[in-house]
Amino acid sequence: MSVSQPARDLARPIDVETSWFVAPPTGSQSDDIAHGILNEAQVRARARELGAAITRDYQHISPASPLVAIVTLRGAIAFAADLLREIDLPVETDFISASSYGAAATSSGVVHILKDLETDLEGRHALLIEDIIDSGLTLSRLIDTLDARRPASLRVCALLDKNKPCPIREQPGRLAYTGFSIPDEFVVGYGLDYAQRYRNLPYIGVLKPSVHARGEEQR
Ligand code: IMP
Ligand code: MG
Repeated sequence: MSVSQPARDLARPIDVETSWFVAPPTGSQSDDIAHGILNEAQVRARARELGAAITRDYQHISPASPLVAIVTLRGAIAFAADLLREIDLPVETDFISASSYGAAATSSGVVHILKDLETDLEGRHALLIEDIIDSGLTLSRLIDTLDARRPASLRVCALLDKNKPCPIREQPGRLAYTGFSIPDEFVVGYGLDYAQRYRNLPYIGVLKPSVHARGEEQR
């Protein structure tokens, strides 16, 4: 049996240029976290409970007109991925990205839609999936905007709630599903960001104040 000779170029090892080498990072994102407050297992277990409740509450929904799950970008992505898989119903999923205008517009009740739904909400049962309710202002303006489209119903499922007074709390049945009540601290991870970072942390934790300070300096 004869074995072909390797081509000359393949026989010669490639020189590793040391300049290619990138030192592995010594730290990780977790170095910026003061302490964790919720781990992945806790979030998933809660998503299972909420998904079961939603499945029960909407069990009579017509398959011809499925529940419209509205995921708010970008913070709710991780929670929504867990929650949606726990809802055993016909569901259509859509996405919206909204931000409130600055202080000057706070009284105008206007929300700036950066990416709108593709679904017509008129006559549809809709469930808004949110990451966190802090002041609740963005959410209450978003609800006003979506209500104007005349859905059959519009409820909110939020993963986290900081329990501050806000108008939507006074609307009966609106905040129908809430994951966890948390202290009034800035949290990141599991979809939640600080300056667009940390969304990929597989748990929720409180950001170290020194990281905020670093961010302020860079501005
Ligand atoms: P709100 O209008 O004050 O309720 O907050 C609007 C948005 O700010 C939320 O949907 C989040 O995207 C973001 N946010 C509020 N609190 C936190 C936090 O503790 N960590 C990360 N994002 C937050
Ligand atoms: Mg954010």
